[in-house]
Amino acid sequence: SDPDLVARAAAAKAALGDRLFVLGHHYQRDEVIEFADVTGDSFKLAKEAAARPQAEYIVFCGVHFMAESADILTSDTQRVVLPDLAAGCSMADMAALGQVEEAWDTLLDLDIAGRTVPITYMNSSADIKGFVGRNKGVVCTSSNAERALRWAFERGEKVLFLPDQHLGRNTAVLQMGLTLDDCVLYDPHKPGGGLTAQQLRDAKMILWRGHCSVHGRFTLDCVTEVRERIPGVNVLVHPECRHEVVTAADYVGSTEYIIKMIEAAPAGSAWAVGTELNLVRRLANAHPDKQITFLDRTVCYCSTMNRIDLPHLVWALEELVAGRVVNEITVDAETAHYARAALDQMLALP
Ligand code: 13P
Ligand code: SF4
Repeated sequence: SDPDLVARAAAAKAALGDRLFVLGHHYQRDEVIEFADVTGDSFKLAKEAAARPQAEYIVFCGVHFMAESADILTSDTQRVVLPDLAAGCSMADMAALGQVEEAWDTLLDLDIAGRTVPITYMNSSADIKGFVGRNKGVVCTSSNAERALRWAFERGEKVLFLPDQHLGRNTAVLQMGLTLDDCVLYDPHKPGGGLTAQQLRDAKMILWRGHCSVHGRFTLDCVTEVRERIPGVNVLVHPECRHEVVTAADYVGSTEYIIKMIEAAPAGSAWAVGTELNLVRRLANAHPDKQITFLDRTVCYCSTMNRIDLPHLVWALEELVAGRVVNEITVDAETAHYARAALDQMLALP
């Protein structure tokens, strides 16, 4: 990256000192990760944000819903900055509050909402987390989805899982022992979700029709192809991948899990990793003694994660040095109150 920008980022960080804390998601570019005080998956970053009450400014190198969660979990005086406001998440955009309220109304009409616990994946807007908090549900991440589901099934007979159908289905079927027939797919673009009253009554898992456009690109063919190409390869994927991909893989887990598996792997072992490319590249560079390949042969960055680049980071930091807070992420007090209840419930999961 541009040496001038590197020097400017370093100078701005030094000028802000302890007033600043920079969080970096594992899918961020190398040029940005270099300036993160801590890196992590979305669960770890939420905890890290909550554990930094002394930092006046939290610069979040990640996507919009993560910065919103950081704002909710930090105090009112702390300011959260997202260096590029266009860093959204297509999955989070697949569940709008009005659509989710409509789905809940359908469950109320059928008299099953009272027995349904809503769970939303961290990858959702603050509005959706607020809805879940108001309805006594919980947030989960890919690191604790199983714990969240167990918690929910101790409290209700059904779960409405938002917005990632794959994380919901994969966790229910592969970790909780439910069957595919226990799951139905609610399509927010169809009346009644495209489901009959009987289907909604019978289902244990009502999965929202949302997915990650990055992880959704891995197919069963990718797994078959890599196994032919590299005999003995270990296939390691994120639970946002489709069910048939996760089922065919050897290991499945969150970004932090993927990193730990690679770190613990013996020298000489071969791994095909199905997750975002910035992370896979970094893992491959950090472990030259292991053969680490990307599960798909086509390039697969998360385009919105990649919007946070060094020029945007430098701009946001230099503005802070000048006493101006740009691209601040704020969640209104009422939404934040209920969203916090659902996030705190997640942090309190056994
Ligand atoms: P985790 O950080 O929970 O592994 O989620 C992956 C992801 O897609 C983040 O946007
Ligand atoms: Fe959203 Fe997928 Fe990108 Fe994560 S990787 S921010 S879920 S689009």
